[in-house]
Amino acid sequence: MRSKIPSFIMIPSLLSVIIFMFYVFFVSYNHIYYLVHPITIFFFIMITALLYVLESINNLIYKRKLQFLSKEERIKIFKENEGNYFYRLYKFIFYDLKKINHDGVKKIDHGFDGIIELDNKLPMWWVHLFYLTIVFSAIYFFSYLLIDFSNPYKEYDIAYKDQLKKIEIFEKNTPQVTIENACFKENLVNRGKVLFEENCATCHQSDGSGNIGPNLTDDYWINKKEKDLFKNIFYVIWNGSDNNPTMRAFGLSGEIKGNDIEKISSYVYFINQKSKKPLRGKDPQGIKITEWSKI
Ligand code: HEC
Repeated sequence: MRSKIPSFIMIPSLLSVIIFMFYVFFVSYNHIYYLVHPITIFFFIMITALLYVLESINNLIYKRKLQFLSKEERIKIFKENEGNYFYRLYKFIFYDLKKINHDGVKKIDHGFDGIIELDNKLPMWWVHLFYLTIVFSAIYFFSYLLIDFSNPYKEYDIAYKDQLKKIEIFEKNTPQVTIENACFKENLVNRGKVLFEENCATCHQSDGSGNIGPNLTDDYWINKKEKDLFKNIFYVIWNGSDNNPTMRAFGLSGEIKGNDIEKISSYVYFINQKSKKPLRGKDPQGIKITEWSKI
């Protein structure tokens, strides 16, 4: 008969295996909060109680079995169970290591090459780790085959939908900037530049020097709809141009949202007013306006 593992080790270990299985089979990775759901907690409390009852029954059986053993055997078991459990565990796991090279280790004779191999026992900690990996791989294998756990495509799908939902909620809850409250913000320039390169550079060049569309870095403007330069830029991006539909209404059509138009406008304003002009640009179009507030 083997010595007993104390219940304060047994119950938590069994419980953690059950929780792990529960996590793998019932909880998808983005619903991890189910683990702390009241029903789940109640379920785990019940399991703990059940484990405790089983442990007590097991203890009773163990004691009863002891009675049927001979005196010597009983004394042997009592001796084995003496002292601290952790020390016994340590001995059990590392004992064989110490035995190596001491007593008569089995030898394997290859015969043909004259090499004699020592057939040492594998250390216990190694063997148990190996068993553990087998158990883990079995759980993992079946969960991978049967359910969505750790399936990268499913995980990607869930994460992707989750992100889309979050973006949707974010956009619903954050009011978009309109021409009334938009203003130049220097900290938006860099993000505006990225958006400008994505949406506008084909016609205006990424430095704004002009291509199909006019040069946005000079003081000549075809469209003047607002008294303020920044608002004028915002206006044109939002409403497009009346004279030339090639410059379409990015804002009105919903293609670009107000917040992003504020960023792009900040970039356009920045390259027009605050940064060095590109060396070469498209020839001036429209009328020269230098002092916007006076028109
Ligand atoms: C398909 C080509 C095209 C794209 C894309 C385009 N534009 Fe234009 N844009 C033009 C043309 C053409 C004009 C001249 C319109 C006119 O004659 O009134 C113009 C005019 C403008 C003006 C007014 C210039 C002035 O002198 O009145 C601004 C500001 C402007 N675009 C900014 C942008 C921004 C910002 C984007 C990106 C969100 C963008 N454009 C995308 C073709 C384009």
